[in-house]
Amino acid sequence: MEKITSLAKRRGFVFQSSEIYGGQNGAWDYGPMGVELKNRIAGAWWKEMTQFHDDIVGLDAAILMHPRTWEASGHVENFTDPLVDCKKCKARFRADQIPPENLAAKKCPECGGELTDTRKFNLMFKTHIGPAEDTASIIYLRPETAQGIYVNYKNIIQSNRMKIPFGIAQIGKAFRNEIVTKNFIFRTCEFEQMEMQFFVKPGTDEEWFNEWRNRRWAYYEKLGVKMDHLRWHQHGPDELAHYAKDAYDIEYLFPMGWRELEGVHNRTNYDLNRHTQYSGKDMQYIDQDNNNERYIPFIIETSAGLTRNLLMILCDAYDEEQVAEKGNDDDWRTVLRFHPSLAPVTVAVLPLMKKDGLAELAQDIRKGLKEDFATDYDQGGAIGRRYRRQDEAGTPFCVTVDYQSKEDNTVTLRFRDSMEQVRVPIAELATRLRQEIKAYKRIK
Ligand code: GAP
Repeated sequence: MEKITSLAKRRGFVFQSSEIYGGQNGAWDYGPMGVELKNRIAGAWWKEMTQFHDDIVGLDAAILMHPRTWEASGHVENFTDPLVDCKKCKARFRADQIPPENLAAKKCPECGGELTDTRKFNLMFKTHIGPAEDTASIIYLRPETAQGIYVNYKNIIQSNRMKIPFGIAQIGKAFRNEIVTKNFIFRTCEFEQMEMQFFVKPGTDEEWFNEWRNRRWAYYEKLGVKMDHLRWHQHGPDELAHYAKDAYDIEYLFPMGWRELEGVHNRTNYDLNRHTQYSGKDMQYIDQDNNNERYIPFIIETSAGLTRNLLMILCDAYDEEQVAEKGNDDDWRTVLRFHPSLAPVTVAVLPLMKKDGLAELAQDIRKGLKEDFATDYDQGGAIGRRYRRQDEAGTPFCVTVDYQSKEDNTVTLRFRDSMEQVRVPIAELATRLRQEIKAYKRIK
């Protein structure tokens, strides 16, 4: 993880928030490469969920919601972690993450000092809306995007004439006052989620739950993730969230071990029932195709962290490779093997020399590619070093412009993964790149 964190900083993927002030715990900034990668991951998910599913529509709800939302959802009462402090060294722990014998003996796992009693700590960030800081003005930063979907579910049925079964997808920020925020961007206080809520008829929920588990698994396969680094984990009775009847996590083998990447939850009709109760509004669905049958739908939720997906994609892509066959035994390269559809830069154009019109020709070629691809241009230093820089940034294709290019209008197309090079006519470059992206299969 240290190597990935340091590469992420060096290449402008992720910076510590407010670094000049010593950093802000639980918050990170996404640099020029990071924001591109994050947008592409979000784009891939959005396309998968909305473009490929006629029965799913999108939403972008506000972060600030009526505080009653969080009473109804159960978050005010239940969204807590058990917390203990060490009276001696002042370290703070989640009680469920320290050895049980330490908890039983009230002994700090770090300094042996005495631990406080376990107390419940609500993870929601609280602030005030308006100038008065009293209890009437309390408002929360949403801890999940899901509730914005539930409170809009009737609006969407009416405005878009949706019929059950149907889904609503949303990507957005969520906030949790996490007690432990180590492991880079894995668990942070400010993060982004990609959530989809699928509304189904009660009694069909288990079937849809299985269907969505299969679809989400297939999605990661399509994204080219190492499938032996993914596994399912079913929540036991003591792990289930207060709203869930059944829940499975897709776990990824991160450098620190297997950890949750995404959850698929059967939330029953808990949330809509509670919103009916707390808002006084009728949340029933009226099935006009079935004698106006009325019911509160069950909800199957797929909930993935966008920023956690970014960490997974970085870890999954990271590779160090000895390239001894190129001459020097000590020659190693660091390479990010991103799927070309996710890579922040798709193609870099490199003139072999700055002089003799090669730089101008390379700039022209880049200009021609810009409409369809994310491009970069680099003319500084030896060509081998420039390839290494692009490998480290995960750029899948490099185009090199040399003296032959001036004579026969061809360039060298170099592939990041195999390091193979082929000669391609400039006029066919865009078509060839499109074909390569479509046919991409990870080789290592
Ligand atoms: N709406 C259901 C829900 O929020 P969750 O399991 O608490 O369920 C879903 O969160 C996903 O959100 C997780 O699988 C993870 O990817 C991401 N996530 C949750 N807490 C996070 C945090 N503190 N930092 C980064 N990502 C987080």
